[in-house]
Order: sequence, then structure tokens, then C-alpha cells
Amino acid sequence: MLNRDDVFDELGIGPVWRLRDATVPDTVQGDTAYTWDQLIDAVARCTRCKLSATRTRGVPGVGDRNADWLVVGEAPGADEDRLGEPFVGQAGKLLDAMLASIGLRRGENVYITNVLKSRPPGNRNPEADEVAACRPYLLAELQLVQPKLILALGRFAAQSLLDTDLAIARLRGQVHRFRNVPLVVTYHPAYLLRNLPDKARAWEDLCLARRTYLSLIPDP
Ligand code: URA
Repeated sequence: MLNRDDVFDELGIGPVWRLRDATVPDTVQGDTAYTWDQLIDAVARCTRCKLSATRTRGVPGVGDRNADWLVVGEAPGADEDRLGEPFVGQAGKLLDAMLASIGLRRGENVYITNVLKSRPPGNRNPEADEVAACRPYLLAELQLVQPKLILALGRFAAQSLLDTDLAIARLRGQVHRFRNVPLVVTYHPAYLLRNLPDKARAWEDLCLARRTYLSLIPDP
């Protein structure tokens, strides 16, 4: 069975779904905007999808709540599920190094989150209904953080944010928009841990993200 670390998934070969196929609404509490406290509490106690039955805890995003950079991964893994923080395992270490390569540090002008806030059992692929159920939390984070740039890590983050089934190879190398915020796609660090040659491509993506960011701020 494929799981989300699978190379073939990252290359865009595998089950394909689109968020628009799912029917869960984009809001959890109608038109009422979340405060940070409400959001963290709602994620921790969320039962909107079946993952709540198997996860240890909901894992909200972490970092600078006024960050210019919003980094979006796929879903908590075993370490994140245990510790309640995104990207704390091996992939997280590589993510930190990727951020450092363009002068960024976790928690300083960077907010890190996932498309899914609950761990899929055995790190299986997220399913469309789970992505749809979790989407309001991502939208709330976007609303609260108000980032200048989004960095989407890997196929699932990119495809679900951009609502497309295009392969990551087609999505890299250009600046997309999500809710009018510029969005750059790169490989997921868990994929890069297994595919070292693609680190050079990830470096190109990071440079594109940084160039895009610098073009957006008044006086770098
Ligand atoms: N992979 C992700 O996509 N997110 C995490 O938080 C950890 C690993």
C-alpha cells in the first residue's frame, strides 16, 4: 500500500482526488472568525473527521503568528502526533535546514502548519473528506497570520491548496496564488530525505520563494 512518504506519490503517480469533489463547507463556525485561542482549542478537540478516532491529539500550526512566511506541509506524523507540534521529526530537521538556507528560522517570521491537523493512521495518504474537513482550520490560520508568501511542501499540500491534480513537477517553478497570497511549491522534506538529488531542485524553489518574497516587501 502506498503511504504519503512514497516516492511515487511525490512524483504525482497514484490516487488522484480533488478538493472540489468533497462536500464539506469551508467554515466551522459560520461567519465567526476564530481568535487564536479558539483555533488552537478547536484543533485540539476536533472531531470533524474520522482521524479523531485514531490520532493522539490535533496538531495546530506553530511559529510566529505575524509571520510573512506560511509553510504548509501534509499531516502530522508519529512524532508530531506524540508531541503536538508540526515537523519535529527527521523531516522537520531538514525543513529547518531548508529554511536556514534562505535565512529563515522556525518561529521567526515563519509559521509552520499542515493541511491535516490529525495524523492519518500509519501515515497513509490523506483522504479527500479529511482534507475538506480540516480546510477551515487552514483558512483560519491564513486569516490570522496574513502571510505575504506561502511555501507548499510536497504534492498533497500543493494539490489541495491549488485544487488541482497536476503533478508536482508541473507545479514547481512558478508563482501560484492561494486566496490571493503568492504560493511557491517545493518538494516535501520527507521526500528529499529519500531522494537527495532533488535537493538541488528544492534549492531552486527556495530561491524562487525568496526572490518572490523580496519583491513583495518595500525595503528588504
Ligand atoms: N510531515 C508533514 O507533512 N508534516 C509534519 O508535521 C511532519 C511531517
